[in-house]
Amino acid sequence: MKVLVVGSGGREHALAWKIAKSPMVSKVFCAPGNGGTRLVAENVPVGETDIEALAEFAAGETVELTVVGPEVPLSLGIVDEFEKRGLRIFGPSKKAAELEGSKIFAKQFMERHRIPTGRFRIADSPETARKILAAGEFGYPVVLKADGLAAGKGVMVCQNEEEAAAAVGEIMVDRKFGEAGGRLLIEEFLTGREVSFIVIADGYKALPLVTTMDHKTIHEGGRGPNTGGMGTISPSPYMNRKMYAQIMSTIILPTITRMLEEGRKYKGALYAGLMLTEEGPKVLEFNCRFGDPETQPQMLRLENDLVDILMSAIAEDVLENEVTWNRKASGCVILASGGYPGAYEKGKPIAGLEDAARTGAVIFHAGTKFENGRYLTNGGRVLGVGAAEPRLSETMNRIYRAVDRISFEGMQFRRDIGAVELES
Ligand code: AMP
Ligand code: GLY
Repeated sequence: MKVLVVGSGGREHALAWKIAKSPMVSKVFCAPGNGGTRLVAENVPVGETDIEALAEFAAGETVELTVVGPEVPLSLGIVDEFEKRGLRIFGPSKKAAELEGSKIFAKQFMERHRIPTGRFRIADSPETARKILAAGEFGYPVVLKADGLAAGKGVMVCQNEEEAAAAVGEIMVDRKFGEAGGRLLIEEFLTGREVSFIVIADGYKALPLVTTMDHKTIHEGGRGPNTGGMGTISPSPYMNRKMYAQIMSTIILPTITRMLEEGRKYKGALYAGLMLTEEGPKVLEFNCRFGDPETQPQMLRLENDLVDILMSAIAEDVLENEVTWNRKASGCVILASGGYPGAYEKGKPIAGLEDAARTGAVIFHAGTKFENGRYLTNGGRVLGVGAAEPRLSETMNRIYRAVDRISFEGMQFRRDIGAVELES
């Protein structure tokens, strides 16, 4: 069968890489893909939000399964459009993807169904926002979030009144995040350890993926601004059986069941960003997709055929699979462009990729393109270098040996991915 992967990041390279290993699969397409996906798939020059063109391509090529990586096409209704045309696709419908597409919808949903999350208020004008803040209900720090999709950037943690006032202005008046800032969520600041919990849902049930730990800040030791993720390890050193059961029973399963009851059957990857507070795990946000760079170490541990799992999720029987994860520790270290997560330049030649691959590490491409026989940088997060070994220390050694062979102008990365665990 032919499979189409929609998207162009490291997550999509990891998905296409794993799907290409399936004995059922004769051909993988990636739209639009990146410099690395061309090694495991045929890149198709159609943008990830050009839903009509993607559906026409899938129909014309008799693609039997489409897998959507990023949230934007899901929020735009790619799944609804494909299903309308009788095309098989993995991902939540537009109504289900609202869990990520509207932070306010997600909060009200959790409140309605007593799914643990921080206290919040909603403001639909700058005046209301200022009034709520002046009432001092949440104290400081306080968290302000633009309602809609803002590429992971619409969240501001404000330490005092001045910062909060400035944030209200930026989000609601200057519309720094565009339309996403039409409504504002004002939220209690939660403290604890942050973990992500990702499952594949089939509308009724959920298959939890192996746990991962992300490293969000650009600099080592949790310093500097947040990014989409600078590295991941799996398993997460902070997850245990009790926590796992609590997250499934108080957060994941109620979310899937209540979504079904509300006429928003949730099929697809569901990513819960959680804070492990003293009162137990609470939801910071939902994403309606796989994680990036969580997918990379997960795919390095999945022993099953991913296509089997995705097909059974679409057929609403995801638990029919006996899923096996290898018992290794896997990891992925991101190499990013100079300036990221702020402004950065593209088009820098990347050296050392072949040499790095010889170390046995797996190189997932993200923001790269292949042009005139060479690889160039083409995004903020450029590459993800992954490995899986029996011990995390061996994994990280293998990864950093490969990283040290790769270079491009301005390249930045963290040397401390997985270091928390290494200390113990
Ligand atoms: P989000 O996109 O909602 O996950 O927010 C991005 C980041 O902001 C999270 O990964 C947290 O580090 C932080 N954050 C979001 N909401 C809160 C909160 N209520 N309390 C503390 N930190 C938060
Ligand atoms: N690594 C964070 C995310 O995928 O949202």
